[in-house]
Amino acid sequence: MQVIIFDDAQQVADSAAQWVAELINKKPNPVLGLATGSTPISLYKALVNKHKAGELSFKNTTSFNLDEYLGIDGTNVQSYRHFMNENLFDHVDIDKSQTFLPTCNQGENPREQGLAYEEKIKQAGGVDLQILGIGANGHIGFNEPTSSLASRTRIKTLTQQTLDDNSRLFAADEFQPTLAMTMGIATILDARYVILMATGKNKAKAVKDMVTGALSAVCPASALQLHENAIILLDKEAASELE
Ligand code: F6R
Repeated sequence: MQVIIFDDAQQVADSAAQWVAELINKKPNPVLGLATGSTPISLYKALVNKHKAGELSFKNTTSFNLDEYLGIDGTNVQSYRHFMNENLFDHVDIDKSQTFLPTCNQGENPREQGLAYEEKIKQAGGVDLQILGIGANGHIGFNEPTSSLASRTRIKTLTQQTLDDNSRLFAADEFQPTLAMTMGIATILDARYVILMATGKNKAKAVKDMVTGALSAVCPASALQLHENAIILLDKEAASELE
């Protein structure tokens, strides 16, 4: 695990963008693992800027997102499909038919859907670079505390803390999903490179547990201690509890 501390969140985003751009420019058919949430928005802005400047093409890129809510479809403004379109896919030259999110619609078998997502990742050659954020409770993807370190893509129930943390994004009368389909921890660990971005004081405790705590399902992000190529990009605030 390599930990790099920057002065501010913009530098974290710029550094992550450089990693992504390097991969895309080097590999003929790169496979990206993508995250949603507040943290990677500035990364996606930086990537869009690189694309607009003619420095980066997503033409041959395939992407797999970490997670998607259950109970709403991709046209819902709260869906992660919508988030990805708005923040990245609609602004670059990626072939949208090669962008995937783990879904399980009504009537579909969750186990089969999970296995099919894993298989699709495998057929694409595996994820080259997985982007991650971290929940204040240490979750990665929607692998909440006590998720098995050997877990694969499946349905998870969101914890009250995650629901509360994300309630800022929902109007008072808006439906907030409590279930999500998410890559598992083992799925994430399969990626060749992992870049976790964390910014802000409210992530400091989770970052401390991830980097210096015990390897434990209580802090799912601590599983990254097992990964040979895990790069942790932090701003000063997120790093403030590291010794
Ligand atoms: C999002 C995801 C989550 C977020 C985490 C942090 O696809 O899988 O693990 O990365 O909840 O979210 P933000 O960045 O909003 O603090």
